[in-house]
Amino acid sequence: MEPDLQSYWMPFTPNRYFKQHPLLLESAAGMYYTTRDGQKILDGIAGLWCVNAGHCHPRIVAAVREQVGKLDYATAFNMGHAGAFALASELVKLAPGNLDHAFFVNSGSEAVDTALKIALAYHRVRGEGQRFRFIGRERGYHGVGFGGISVGGMVANRKAFASAMLPGVDHLPHTHDLARNAYSRGQPDHGVELADALERLIALHDPSTIAGVIVEPVSGSAGVLVPPKGYLERIRAICDRHGLLLIFDEVITGFGRTGSAFAAQTFNVQPDIMTVAKGITSGVVPMGAVLVDRRIYEACVNASGFPEQAVEFFHGYTYSGHPLACAAGLAALVVYRDEGLFARAASLAPVFADALHSLKGLPHVIDIRNIGLMGAVELEPRKAQPTLRALEVFRHCFANGVLVRTTGDIIALTPPLIIEPAQIEQIVTTLGKALKAVA
Ligand SMILES: Cc1ncc(COP(=O)(O)O)c(C=O)c1O
Repeated sequence: MEPDLQSYWMPFTPNRYFKQHPLLLESAAGMYYTTRDGQKILDGIAGLWCVNAGHCHPRIVAAVREQVGKLDYATAFNMGHAGAFALASELVKLAPGNLDHAFFVNSGSEAVDTALKIALAYHRVRGEGQRFRFIGRERGYHGVGFGGISVGGMVANRKAFASAMLPGVDHLPHTHDLARNAYSRGQPDHGVELADALERLIALHDPSTIAGVIVEPVSGSAGVLVPPKGYLERIRAICDRHGLLLIFDEVITGFGRTGSAFAAQTFNVQPDIMTVAKGITSGVVPMGAVLVDRRIYEACVNASGFPEQAVEFFHGYTYSGHPLACAAGLAALVVYRDEGLFARAASLAPVFADALHSLKGLPHVIDIRNIGLMGAVELEPRKAQPTLRALEVFRHCFANGVLVRTTGDIIALTPPLIIEPAQIEQIVTTLGKALKAVA
């Protein structure tokens, strides 16, 4: 029976168009989706930058199946279950530096809002409660909570809600520079000086009022904007100079996307707080986490000065550390390790880069960029019809069995880390044909 499409208000979707032209997925395995009408679709975007281990991985599926029959739900308030503690221990082993405590949430958006609250709580407990400001970045995407859209820099996600933003937020300039950096492979050469805008914002607001800076190490949703060489290092140094916490939003870049467990390791820059989600369970069960530096946990919990029986941090979710999410997360980490998927992403990165950059010169292509297994092809927008060209490319690819993602007039590719070189070729060949057809 065909489902009635009317009642579901779909997220980030042109609902009226979709309901005229529905795309319904029925099943998935490995690198492929199967649509409701039986078409096989090669997944070039890991679901939504999350299914890093490939679809319906048997070990993750088995772990979730077993868990749901054993302990379906357990509150994390005042009690727990072994899975949550085990997953926290495994996660912090993967994380760089002293990020050795994990706070569980259910999505990237919740991870971001939680990270901002942790930053405020940290400063307050140390007697610096006047540090209330955050610095985000233009074109940043940090989910859709009020905190996330406030520090985020995607105009469409903000404008309808401008009256309800967090106070005291300012933004760094984005780092996208087509004039100097088009067709960069890996980190672009130009733009380290854009980090100096942070010094100017700090001078404007006074460092004593700023809690922290939040950036995606690689902007994902804005279209794969790779940080210029030296940029993140400079942001880190400026934060250190003024006592600001540096938050890396690794919701997309975490779990192997850039060829290491986290982009912090790829770029060798250490954040104080890291937000993760998506790949934490390989997309199988919703989950996110905030990983915090030891000194933050120490200040907020062990050295807080609160009585031992008092709650130290008034925050958490009904589904924090949900047993199914923890089972999926533990299994995903085992799969990543046993199949060597992070190293696989690193070793496939040059193959992916060569394939992607072979599209240079095709109609309306104005930039191609990549890092690890994330890449983007930017198109010249049609006059007075922004985004339409990319949408047509998306539809053409889908009709020809390949799922890509569009953001504005940018085509983004972030395949599962299990992808084979021949499948990279198939994605790029299909995209190339679409670019020619749509031109
Ligand atoms: C960097 C980043 N942060 C946060 C989010 C929000 O995650 P979610 O959609 O799970 O709330 C996303 C989602 O794409 C993201 O890319």
